[in-house]
Amino acid sequence: MHHFTYRAGELYAEDLSVQSLATEYGTPLYVYSTATFKRHFQAFDSAFADLPHLTCFSVKANSNLCILRLLSEQGAGMDIVSGGELFRALSAGVPAQKIVYSGVGKRPGEIAEALLADILMFNVESLEELRRINDIALDLGKTARISLRINPDVDPLTHPYISTGLKQNKFGLDIEQSLEAYQLASTLPCIEPVGIDCHIGSQLTNIEPFLEALRRIKDFLAQLKTIGVKIRFLDLGGGLGITYDQEDPPHPKVFGQTLVRELQGMDLTLILEPGRVIAGNTGILVTEVVYTKSTKSKEFVIVDAAMNDLIRPALYQSFHRIDEVRPRQRPAKKVDVVGPICESSDFLARDRELPEVRSGELLAVFSAGAYGFTMSSQYNSRPRAAEILVDGTNVVLARKRETYNDLVALERQCLKK
Ligand code: LLP
Repeated sequence: MHHFTYRAGELYAEDLSVQSLATEYGTPLYVYSTATFKRHFQAFDSAFADLPHLTCFSVKANSNLCILRLLSEQGAGMDIVSGGELFRALSAGVPAQKIVYSGVGKRPGEIAEALLADILMFNVESLEELRRINDIALDLGKTARISLRINPDVDPLTHPYISTGLKQNKFGLDIEQSLEAYQLASTLPCIEPVGIDCHIGSQLTNIEPFLEALRRIKDFLAQLKTIGVKIRFLDLGGGLGITYDQEDPPHPKVFGQTLVRELQGMDLTLILEPGRVIAGNTGILVTEVVYTKSTKSKEFVIVDAAMNDLIRPALYQSFHRIDEVRPRQRPAKKVDVVGPICESSDFLARDRELPEVRSGELLAVFSAGAYGFTMSSQYNSRPRAAEILVDGTNVVLARKRETYNDLVALERQCLKK
């Protein structure tokens, strides 16, 4: 459930007219809803209330400081994958003890920053990384709390680009090698193995792969006991999907209750790393129609948002619902909604039934709150869009629209003398 609804024939973000917001802030414009963020976080987090747990929002899904602060105030921790995300989380006031750090390529400087901040734990993805964390911790006089990320070899039944728990993926350690890895971890002087971690993929709409991974982890935990390694945290990653179109993922409540049932009696604190399920439906991308054009074979609606603003349709062929901000009841046509970028992959929708729209009118692209702005770029020298956060009748400019000067701010002209 989200708070983007039609009232008296026009789209509202909570209690504010989207048309008026676009007039004030311009387009393309990311609009987020505070009430939706709170609702999604509470729905997810409360589903695990029967177990000691920490819900760490996956910063990569939406890393705006206003959003991180909002979620942190709701009690969220953060799942980070870079020094930049650590910086964002700390800047937004997230306690370091609620931060977990995943990712296959943590660089020495990033590891040092996380050790100095004293984060809760590193999710370690290779033996080389384990040794490196130990060495850096030794230099800094610290002990690193770690989990090993286990690759359980389970098919998450999602888009191949966002599958992470299969043997051929670059993530985690093979489950067969992991016992040895824990043995090594417990002998390294500056490493404290405190947890076990897995994340099998994103936009999962079926609960079975989660359960299969959990079964494999539970079997593995029994083996861990036999070598005397006792851990406190079980991190099950993120991955729960949302409805973009016709998908029917389990409700977070059902998801939570099912996992909690499987984990009864285990003396562990559960960590979860949801991104999309919290943020996906909290945001829309508002865009203005620039032109329409008919060719012999196609009708195009050319809008001012492009693949640099929202790359998901181009990259994963993903579906985002698109509707008029002020529906005008004109007859529907099958159209491609495309941006101004010079690539044929620059589309937001293909062969989509949409009422006829005209230049100057606004469209809303739904489910743009996760992996929308965070994956945006300046390709074709397009300044990145503004982001605003609505709360009832209030609004804050969460990120200013970039300017042409921002495009070149870090560059210099190498003129010959
Ligand atoms: N934890 C780890 C270690 C991850 O790699 C990810 C996502 C998450 C948590 C959060 O997953 P979520 O709950 O959001 O599914 N750009 C793609 C999604 C990439 C996901 C990468 N990892 C998209 O737009 O669909």
